[in-house]
Amino acid sequence: MAKKLWGGRFKKSIDKDFEEFSKSIQYDYKLAKYDIYHSKIHALALKNSGILTAAESKKIITVLDGILGNIESGDFKFNSTSEDIHTEIQNFLEKKVGKLALKLHTLRSRNDQVVFDAKWFCKFEAVQIICLLNELEKNLQTISRKHKDKAFIGYTHTQRAQVVRFDDYINAYYFMFKRDFQRVSKFFDGLNVYIGAGALAGSSLTKDAYDQAASYLLDKMKELSKIVKPVENSLDNVSDRDFIVEFLSILSIIQMHLSRFSEDMILYSTQEFNYIDLPEEFCTGSSLMPHKKNPDFLELVRGYTGQVNGNLIAVLTTMKGLPLTYNRDMQLDKEPLFSSVEILKNELKIMAKFVKGIKIKEEIIAKALEDECLYATELAEFLVHENVAFKEAHDIVGKLIRYSQDKKVKIREISDKQLRGFHKALNQKEIKKIMTPQYAIKSKKSINRKVLKINA
Ligand code: ARG
Repeated sequence: MAKKLWGGRFKKSIDKDFEEFSKSIQYDYKLAKYDIYHSKIHALALKNSGILTAAESKKIITVLDGILGNIESGDFKFNSTSEDIHTEIQNFLEKKVGKLALKLHTLRSRNDQVVFDAKWFCKFEAVQIICLLNELEKNLQTISRKHKDKAFIGYTHTQRAQVVRFDDYINAYYFMFKRDFQRVSKFFDGLNVYIGAGALAGSSLTKDAYDQAASYLLDKMKELSKIVKPVENSLDNVSDRDFIVEFLSILSIIQMHLSRFSEDMILYSTQEFNYIDLPEEFCTGSSLMPHKKNPDFLELVRGYTGQVNGNLIAVLTTMKGLPLTYNRDMQLDKEPLFSSVEILKNELKIMAKFVKGIKIKEEIIAKALEDECLYATELAEFLVHENVAFKEAHDIVGKLIRYSQDKKVKIREISDKQLRGFHKALNQKEIKKIMTPQYAIKSKKSINRKVLKINA
């Protein structure tokens, strides 16, 4: 087993099974890059405070940069016997610079490191998610523009309700993902990464020592400058996992939107609805039934909701009732976080390609749009304009629909004389005008479509 960052006060060595049980290197290696950033800032802060000489801090930073290069190129070999990523990097540094490495841990703690690393991870991944959402939004817009002004069947309770525009239907999802985009952006902007909390109580290094160290290093990483600030409340800092719960909540909302879209696509591509043809590249066949084209991608997306919501609940539950400040329970925040980020990135990437391939079956949609029930509301509104109270109009049209269903006759084909029996203002000419997709769509004037804008 690799060397630990603690041990002096122990007489007995750690139980092997417990040691294995407590390790996090198998997943927290994903934080390696950010842990190096922490170490570099800390080395400079120690230099600013006179604990390391300029030459010592330079030596440490040079080796850390070397490790960073190897991590970024994928050449860094993580020692799976290390307790965690912080131990691993410290041990590696010790191999390179010997005893000098032992000075780096002066006045810092893994409690401070781990929250720094996880926040930076969230910032980085938030940007990836923002880009992926943007791509999906763009592709949804392409589809909606392609089918601008086409009529579609709108549902409530999964029952035919009223005629809607197909572009509005697609844009309903665009709006959901746009809100997600805004949610992730706000999360990114509001997430402060702090330094100097120590184990929980802060450290004797000054705010300025940390501030200068962070600014000096981060100014070189242009887009990242000013991300890191001296800690404002060290107790809160080392025990805060709100940002993980918040990010996971946002990811769960995105997942919910993806799942709803998937369900719509699954439903509308069934032989029963048959409005949509799914892109074949995202479907699979059956090993037994030769005719099958199964929507497996969409089903997997819908299915992953279990894991993504589970990850949120796992962290919320882990955090519930934890006393201040850091507790080892909090190590268990990382797997759920990494899992949801990975799932969402894959889903968004594939979904952006998927939507480009959706085809609508116009003939079948046109046939469905002949259903007269879809125009019942418009017919009732017509009567309102003939001075009939809406509740009465609702009742009259309800009876008309019932009559047409019982007698198996289309409302469009009922004679004027019979129609007048329902209400004197009803006649075939008006009914044929009202019961069309064009009329239904044109009569809706409340929608402000000008707000549609794509995030560039
Ligand atoms: N692996 C630990 C975690 O993820 C790092 C912090 C350990 N701190 C400690 N005092 N044991 O939370």
